[in-house]
Amino acid sequence: MRPPRGPAWPLEPEAADLRRLIDACADYVVEHIDSLPRQPSFDVEGAGLVAASFDEPVPEEGRPIETILDRLRPAVAKSFTTAGPGYLAFIPGGGIPSAAVADLVACAVNRFVGVAAAAPALARIEAQAISWLAGLMGYPPGAGGILTSGGSLSNLIALVTARAARLPENFLNGTLYASEETHLSLFKAARTAGFPDRNVRRIAVDGRFRLRPDRLEAAVVSDRAQGRRPFFVVANVGTTNTGAIDPLPEILDIARRHELWVHADAAYGGFFRLIPEGAGRMPGVERCDSITLDPHKGLFLPYGTGCLLVRDPETLRRAHQGGAAYLQDVSAAEGAPNFTDLSPELSRDFRGLRLWLPIQLHGLRAFKEQIQEKLDLALWAYDELKDDPFFEMLDEPQLSIVAFTARPRGGDPDAFGAEVLRRVNARRRVFLSSSTIGGRYVLRICVLSFRTHAERVRDAVTALKEEAARLSEL
Ligand SMILES: Cc1ncc(COP(=O)(O)O)c(C=O)c1O
Repeated sequence: MRPPRGPAWPLEPEAADLRRLIDACADYVVEHIDSLPRQPSFDVEGAGLVAASFDEPVPEEGRPIETILDRLRPAVAKSFTTAGPGYLAFIPGGGIPSAAVADLVACAVNRFVGVAAAAPALARIEAQAISWLAGLMGYPPGAGGILTSGGSLSNLIALVTARAARLPENFLNGTLYASEETHLSLFKAARTAGFPDRNVRRIAVDGRFRLRPDRLEAAVVSDRAQGRRPFFVVANVGTTNTGAIDPLPEILDIARRHELWVHADAAYGGFFRLIPEGAGRMPGVERCDSITLDPHKGLFLPYGTGCLLVRDPETLRRAHQGGAAYLQDVSAAEGAPNFTDLSPELSRDFRGLRLWLPIQLHGLRAFKEQIQEKLDLALWAYDELKDDPFFEMLDEPQLSIVAFTARPRGGDPDAFGAEVLRRVNARRRVFLSSSTIGGRYVLRICVLSFRTHAERVRDAVTALKEEAARLSEL
């Protein structure tokens, strides 16, 4: 019998064709990044039509890359410009280009890092990057962790790890504690991990939106008296609404008295520890049992780069390690961990390169300077706005978020605030988002993109002042 013929349309391009493909994409990327400062801060007008243009049957025949990129351009254009300098909404990150290049390399070499035996040195690169992050958070040598797709997954893995470490197999008595300002992902994690809503205590915050330790301890004591099993408390290191940092030393003391696992959700705030000013604001983070960090926030990497750190990597292993006959050939390797033993994932992208390569290329100092600038810009915006008659600051920024309510001369402050936000965003120079805290409509400026500098924050402040003044004259 003759062996089967190879495909007529091979998926492996010739070297010259591959170079043309990469060049075409490189041209697109360079042109796009170059135009970012001139792009509107958002543009979703007619986005539905562009979205609908992608409804099509699966193409049987291939198309040239130029045609494909031409279709992609309007899809990218009709969106929030999350990578642009004017993006001050939610929690920005930016997406440094060197990380995108790292992804190209990682996907092109397509090595398997889920088990160390398959690529020991690459697994070591990823482990090294994780261990750098652990060191930056003040963890002792021997601490470890896992790179995830983001903060939500890190929080889930932390909870599952604590559940395995602190609770019996039947864990339904386990009770967990988090402030009212804790990110949604932790409440989702509780559900996903099998805890009914009644096992989750939302602890009141103080005037600066920080968890109240007295309320935490009272809840723990009362739960224990009722036969529940308190086991996990979240300490926020930078809440999403206002950037509040919970009182870590007090939380750690309570946790020690009651044998709670302390998980720091530092998804947004953790990287401020890279500079002395930030480190001073989060004493005790290094004593927490686990820490969620989002390099796609405070290290400006592209979306999809999260990290969970644990003081004791054995806890991660105990919660996740399993065996399977088909993995018997790759169960052990020297000098690098099996990442699949530390998280729910087996196959996944080589995330470590996206973190390691930019740090190699730029050096840590470049990141520290950026982080300092973000703190300074937020404080500057706060100073500019705090005496404005139309705004009332909620708090001095604890990190790089400025949160404030509107104060019209008459009428409904919430409606006034929402209209100011709409008008500011309509200028398309910056993009701000809002929240509701204690039933009040709150405007926010979150400075975290590496592309955001003084000029753009000044635009935001000017637009807020002008639009509020204009609106109050109507
Ligand atoms: C404090 C905090 N925790 C967790 C998350 C969830 O992170 P991710 O969006 O990466 O899943 C966020 C996201 O903004 C956050 O601000």
